[in-house]
Amino acid sequence: MRFATSLTALAVLPGIFAAPTTLGHRTDSTSSASSRADAVKQTFQIAWNGYQKYAFPNDELHPVSNSFSNSRNGWGASAADAITTAIVMDLPDIVNVILNYIPTINWGVSYQNEAVSLFETTIRYMAGMLSAYDLLNGPCSGMANNTGNVAQLLQQAQNLANNLSYAFDTPTGIPSNNLILANRSNDGSTTNSIATIGTLVLEWTRLSDLTGNTKYGQLAQKAESYLLNPQPSWAQPWPGLVGTNVDIASGQFADASGGWNGGDDSFYEYLIKMYVYDSSRFGTYKDRWVAAADSTINYLASHPSSRPDLTWLAAFNNQTTNENSGHLACFDGGNFILGGLVLKKQQYVDFGLSLVSGCEDTYTQTLTGIGPEGFGWNSSTIPSGQEAFYQKAGFYITSSQYILRPEVIESFYYAYRATGDTKYQDWAWNAFLAINSTTHVGSGYSEISNVNAANGGSFLDFQDSFFFAEVLKYSYLIQAADAVYQVNHRGANQFVFNTEAHPFKVAGTPI
Ligand SMILES: *[C@@H]1O[C@H](CO)[C@@H](O)[C@H](O)[C@H]1NC(C)=O
Ligand SMILES: *[C@@H]1O[C@H](CO)[C@@H](O)[C@H](O)[C@H]1NC(C)=O
Ligand SMILES: *[C@@H]1O[C@H](CO)[C@@H](O)[C@H](O)[C@H]1NC(C)=O
Ligand SMILES: *[C@@H]1O[C@H](CO)[C@@H](O)[C@H](O)[C@H]1NC(C)=O
Ligand SMILES: *[C@@H]1O[C@H](CO)[C@@H](O)[C@H](O)[C@H]1NC(C)=O
Ligand SMILES: *[C@@H]1O[C@H](CO)[C@@H](O)[C@H](O)[C@H]1NC(C)=O
Repeated sequence: MRFATSLTALAVLPGIFAAPTTLGHRTDSTSSASSRADAVKQTFQIAWNGYQKYAFPNDELHPVSNSFSNSRNGWGASAADAITTAIVMDLPDIVNVILNYIPTINWGVSYQNEAVSLFETTIRYMAGMLSAYDLLNGPCSGMANNTGNVAQLLQQAQNLANNLSYAFDTPTGIPSNNLILANRSNDGSTTNSIATIGTLVLEWTRLSDLTGNTKYGQLAQKAESYLLNPQPSWAQPWPGLVGTNVDIASGQFADASGGWNGGDDSFYEYLIKMYVYDSSRFGTYKDRWVAAADSTINYLASHPSSRPDLTWLAAFNNQTTNENSGHLACFDGGNFILGGLVLKKQQYVDFGLSLVSGCEDTYTQTLTGIGPEGFGWNSSTIPSGQEAFYQKAGFYITSSQYILRPEVIESFYYAYRATGDTKYQDWAWNAFLAINSTTHVGSGYSEISNVNAANGGSFLDFQDSFFFAEVLKYSYLIQAADAVYQVNHRGANQFVFNTEAHPFKVAGTPI
């Protein structure tokens, strides 16, 4: 594959594409990037200090009321999700507080007996521990005060998996997602979604590869096998694009509606990430990603009538498309870019960059400079009062909140790492500044009710753990110096980020 135009531009850029010998002669552009990185780090410290003072070791901070809640079973979700960001930001004091805490978690008891989401627990807790283990045994070694605590990261990830693995004990091996630990049962759902089934395989495979116990990876790969070979055939309206819900008892799909939105999203994301993780074992996953990517370009790429220059992905029900998307789906640009780099297919990079621009538009068009949770662009269903907005912006808002989600900045990150174009650093910085000023309140940063109202409407008094794991990590890494855990612009990645932005060492190379 030829990155001719990009590479010409890159030769003059500092930072990620420069030869090591030039790093001592930083240009203005690099030093401003590094002061931006410092500013993001300062925000991380503000948010962490608020959490540590008022919420730790509960799951999340309520920054307005200086209180807390336990929406993730009370195991300290923000601490587990923050550790890898604290590591890459080189904040050893925070890292060691979290390292001292992790061995004390009891995975056998869920706060108030609430159901445990296999998916959320895997992508936040298990992934945070495995990634911290990879980083602290690799490029960020020397940060831990107590090496026993580093070993405990892997031990506790395995303890967690041992507590959760009964979820896969179903007729098909497709797990139930919502688990009642106290009596080793579940919420009785007869179906599970492709996102929650298909976003376990990286974490559970990494756990097997690190422990030498193959059973964890086998459980997740068996469940995934039903998604790779979807039945019945009507559940795949176009090659690679499949329905959302799968019957746990039979392994058959229950519908043919889907897309890249929540419920489906990270199933597609992990198809290519498994290939990045290990191209020798996961070639079939890559083939399924290519099929889905090609069908997406052919059938789901969609342009609003008022702004034909913009591209978003429609959802579908069978072969009927539906012009709705949202903040969650904005990881799509980054995922296409990653696939294009790794497979050396410029068409996927270019398509990904067009999706990145569409998602940037959802930020720049609102009063706060932050994109909404949900948006649509069907010109026959514009809500009254939003006609003028639709004409200018190309979309209308269907859900006005911003809940500290990362996906738009995540895709800016991939766009910058692929192209070296500092425009994407500027976009990420503008998004960060908007989030930093609009959501800051009390002891931290809060979800807001309305991205298109002055000051964001009202504060919802909740700081989710993914603000630490994702928003602040991608905002930081896009401005930070190159490192082995950063996405590689030639597709030669030594790490792959899970869906919660925890970087995992790829298989086959020593830690
Ligand atoms: C880690 O060690 C440093 C240096 O000895 C010390 O200042 C710090 O308090 C320790 N942190 C924790 C959480 O134990
Ligand atoms: C659950 O995890 C705890 C550690 O938090 C561990 O002591 C226990 O053995 C695990 N339970 C199972 C069934 O593996
Ligand atoms: C397990 O506990 C939950 C919550 O207490 C209860 O609703 C459910 O009926 C129990 N299931 C079994 C199989 O005992
Ligand atoms: C899906 O759409 C195709 C083509 O429009 C049609 O032939 C098929 O019957 C539909 N399938 C279902 C399950 O609705
Ligand atoms: C747009 O909305 C109209 C009216 O609800 C509907 O008939 C049409 O199928 C929609 N088109 C798309 C592409 O979503
Ligand atoms: C981010 O917000 C914090 C808290 O309001 C503020 O102190 C800091 O200056 C802001 N950072 C930037 C770069 O504006």
